[in-house]
Amino acid sequence: MAEKSNNSRRKFIKQLSATAALAAAGPLLSNAADLKKKQILQPKNRISPNDKIRFATIGMGIMGYNDTATALKVPNSELVAAADLYDGRLTHVKELYGKDIFTTRDYREILNRKDVDAVIVTTHDLWHDTISIDAMNAGKAVYCEKPMVQHIDLGHAVIATQKKTGKVLQVGSQRISSIAFEKAKEIYESGKIGKLNLVEAKMSRHDALGAWQYSIPPDASPKTMDFDTFLKNTKKVPFDPVRFFRWRNYNEYGTGIPGDLFVHLLTGLHFITSSLGPERILASGELSYWKDGRNVPDVMTAIMDYPETKTHPKFQLMLSVNFADGGGEDEYTRLIGTEGMIEMSGNSFKVKMNKLPEAPGYGGWDSLDTFSNEMQKAYIADYDKKYPPSTRTVKNEPDIVYSAPQGYDEHVDHFHNFFNAMQGGKPVVEDATFGLRAAAPAIACNLSYFQKKIIHWDPVNMKLV
Ligand SMILES: NC(=O)c1ccc[n+]([C@@H]2O[C@H](COP(=O)([O-])OP(=O)(O)OC[C@H]3O[C@@H](n4cnc5c(N)ncnc54)[C@H](O)[C@@H]3O)[C@@H](O)[C@H]2O)c1
Repeated sequence: MAEKSNNSRRKFIKQLSATAALAAAGPLLSNAADLKKKQILQPKNRISPNDKIRFATIGMGIMGYNDTATALKVPNSELVAAADLYDGRLTHVKELYGKDIFTTRDYREILNRKDVDAVIVTTHDLWHDTISIDAMNAGKAVYCEKPMVQHIDLGHAVIATQKKTGKVLQVGSQRISSIAFEKAKEIYESGKIGKLNLVEAKMSRHDALGAWQYSIPPDASPKTMDFDTFLKNTKKVPFDPVRFFRWRNYNEYGTGIPGDLFVHLLTGLHFITSSLGPERILASGELSYWKDGRNVPDVMTAIMDYPETKTHPKFQLMLSVNFADGGGEDEYTRLIGTEGMIEMSGNSFKVKMNKLPEAPGYGGWDSLDTFSNEMQKAYIADYDKKYPPSTRTVKNEPDIVYSAPQGYDEHVDHFHNFFNAMQGGKPVVEDATFGLRAAAPAIACNLSYFQKKIIHWDPVNMKLV
């Protein structure tokens, strides 16, 4: 029996690498050397240490400021320009980064500049594909925030433009560059958790800001903001700063919980398991608490079926997000297999090994006690012959606990990887194709929720079926 399960496990673990063997050698502990190795190696991969990467950020909102500050932590990077539709955010760019930074409401002015090598696209989801495509066509590398596109059918044009222009495009779900995810991938590939059969991922929040009720500046007006450009090709509505600053609450401009949060969970999972994605997607949700005019749910659950591939067996995925979780805030992704579990949480994870013994056992909550005395004796005699003591227990390996060193920031590594690829280093993992494979099943949750049906997806050809 043990041999049989080993065989079926091996069938799915085709990528046993030298590093996986290393992971199998013993418990991993948080290791400062890992961090040092990574951060020293990356800048060295660059073509020339004197090469500067000059970038501009398009969309100087919450993530625009966050991405800009993070990108500037990478040596040799420089902010030269910024675009935004609200003047106050452009004023603040100059307050923070100096009056020489070029600022504009019109992102095309940034794409025309020769001193911009790369753009960070941090607008609301509605604009991601258009600006990314325009930027690559203008010869710029693109760091596009997740989800790469707002609608599934927009994804192939981004992939085609990336291929045509040969420009680097990296999507901004930064966990993929985390050393913790790299280690978890090694452990998954080493087969320690047996045959993967279920993944449970959860994010819960319990505060107004977590539920996207962001602050609105007192000077918001049609004069200080370009509301028409914000609306792009969506239905014209009267000026409304709530829509502008809290766009996530409206299906027209964002992607709701799936495109905001499920997409991160899918990115991490696809990276660890080298998966191309699910083929069946079902989502349900409700607007339970934050009834502030939004037209997207604040509680959502999705179930996805992943087909067997070379890198993973058939398994199920359950995702849930609750913005009014009285149980408190929580976030984890559990990869559950027949012989153990990896539980990811931020830049840390735990691995539990829990193999079943070959012998099934008897007694307790069992039918044995209901047999006649003679049959009980016969059963036990037969059992003793069939299952010697060595088959009755399993000595499981001790748990593995991994935690990235204190202060470690996967977001900085994500920018390292992006700039490094621009300078001829290793290609990025989270390219346009990866980006669509993570975004599409997430967005399919919206289709499932709004159309009340199961969505079928072809993860290889990246098409709705
Ligand atoms: N990777 C992550 O962890 C992470 C975290 C938060 C947000 N995000 C992503 O970042 C993006 C932005 O989110 P946010 O919370 O910063 O939103 P935000 O509303 O705070 O900022 C978006 C900004 O984009 C500007 N903008 C919109 N359209 C524009 C256009 N055509 N030209 C120039 N500027 C334009 C708006 O004026 C606004 O200031 C979203 O796609 C979101 O999913 C990613």
